[in-house]
Amino acid sequence: AANVEHTFLVSQVNMTHLCKEMLVTVVNGQLPGPTIEVTEGDSVTIHVINRSPYNITIHWHGVLQLLNCWNDGVPMITQRPIQPNHNFTYQFDVAGQVGTLWWHAHDAFLRATVHGALVIWPRDGTGSYPFPKPHMEVPIIIGEWWEKDLAQLDRNFSKGYLDEFSSGSTINGKLGDLFNCSGVLEDGYVLDVEPGKTYLLRLINAALFSEYFLKIAGHKFMVVASDANYVNPYTTDVIVIAPGETVDAIVIADAAPGRYYMVALPIQAPPPDLQTPEYTTRGMVEYSSVNTSRRDDVPAVAPEMPNQHDTIKSFYFHGNLSSLRQEQRAQVPVRADEHLFITLGLGSICRRNGQSCKRGGNLESMLVANMNNISFHLPAAMTTPFLQAHYYGCAPAGTGTRELADRPPRAFNYTDGALITFGPEEMLLEPTSRATVVRRFRHGTAVDVVFQGTAMLQGDSNPMHLHGHDMFVLAQGLGNYDAARDSARYNLVNPPRKNTVLVPSLGWAAVRFVADNPGTWLIHCHYEFHLSMGMAAVFIVEDGPTVDTSLPPPPRYFLEASTSVSSSSS
Ligand code: C2O
Repeated sequence: AANVEHTFLVSQVNMTHLCKEMLVTVVNGQLPGPTIEVTEGDSVTIHVINRSPYNITIHWHGVLQLLNCWNDGVPMITQRPIQPNHNFTYQFDVAGQVGTLWWHAHDAFLRATVHGALVIWPRDGTGSYPFPKPHMEVPIIIGEWWEKDLAQLDRNFSKGYLDEFSSGSTINGKLGDLFNCSGVLEDGYVLDVEPGKTYLLRLINAALFSEYFLKIAGHKFMVVASDANYVNPYTTDVIVIAPGETVDAIVIADAAPGRYYMVALPIQAPPPDLQTPEYTTRGMVEYSSVNTSRRDDVPAVAPEMPNQHDTIKSFYFHGNLSSLRQEQRAQVPVRADEHLFITLGLGSICRRNGQSCKRGGNLESMLVANMNNISFHLPAAMTTPFLQAHYYGCAPAGTGTRELADRPPRAFNYTDGALITFGPEEMLLEPTSRATVVRRFRHGTAVDVVFQGTAMLQGDSNPMHLHGHDMFVLAQGLGNYDAARDSARYNLVNPPRKNTVLVPSLGWAAVRFVADNPGTWLIHCHYEFHLSMGMAAVFIVEDGPTVDTSLPPPPRYFLEASTSVSSSSS
């Protein structure tokens, strides 16, 4: 096994799109950032040099980090943020996972531009793929282009302002020719293909806000993996991917040589909804046999896109995922030791004193997102990262920790919009409060979680991401979860293993995971605004019975805030 080493220089660079030059925070001057390529079993060392004006951490999204919670990269949960002009080194092994993961800043909206792919090849080489060996592998990162100040945006969201939108969507950082600056078309991403060859697209949704449909005119996809776990191959003409998810798909260049648009269209909650433009981004698949000098004369074929509000397509796409049997590295536990039922909703709290607002007091109230009606909040006064406090057995100073309950304070009709109108009074489930929400698990506990979406979210889906563990997705459904009816439908044979489970719009998803990785792991919605508004909790997994199943002490440099860049000359 090799050690793969990279230096990530985080800095602000100027980029121009849509007639506007913007200062953008990126890694190594590029957007998306560098791709990390490893072979399963390799160690990875990343030196982060922060020359941006922001505090930053980098999270290795989906990397299991077994016994290595210290390197998970979540600010104040696993480490102090890396301050401007400081550096920090991450070290982790990639073991037991093959496929596509990614990395991103875990600080507020920096994730919009600080992200990149993490590709894990199998130990026995790409010939051992359980699908045709591709001629070429290509990361395809769907993102958003923001003309607004992202730091300001994050402050707005944490105060509950909802109506903020990006200026456009991107494929590998390019907006494409549906966007223009005074009539000059924006560049689109171009994938050159050779007729008859096979391509492995490694799709990542790095967007802050939307699920996406992705199509290539005249071509089909064979989905072979998701979240670095092989799935039973299935063929589809449209990929549906939520923020945080990855999908690996085979495309064969078997159409008539020509030019074909690759289109990513954001999915919106069904109408009536907030008025948003479509933000469709177009790239191009170009056959090498098309004579280059005549290329612009060859008309490009556009795919017919699904209706932007067709959230059922997403439901079926995700329902089609199942684990490829021989790749199921751990059996699904036949039963769970603990059962959580978690509503994903909104509530209001008083701005002034953190108390819930009484009727009529809504001048002071603000919107927060919550899980079982508690909104996650880390006090600004917190000085010791949560994991460190946990490891040394002291209560994290100044935090009002509160245990996540097994269920919401009361049952109601979660998904019938008619009962919950959108306004601070009506949507008050119960007084919502803010706290550092935690849930403690004994090592090895098999945990069932049913995530129940609610009408309070206006038909948003919720991509729920758990750090440090993969989850088996046992079932999903629309409407309200009914334990007697729905637990009988659980797939205990070949459920897909995911680090991000998409809870369908106005529906639920049931997952099972084994809490066997000691540490403090964030679980949260991968929509950035839901996260900023508090849809998160910390799962604390206790040490196992032996040294080998317990969290080792932190690397020495972790106890310092982060180290100064010694030679700070640029
Ligand atoms: Cu991809 Cu907690 O994040």
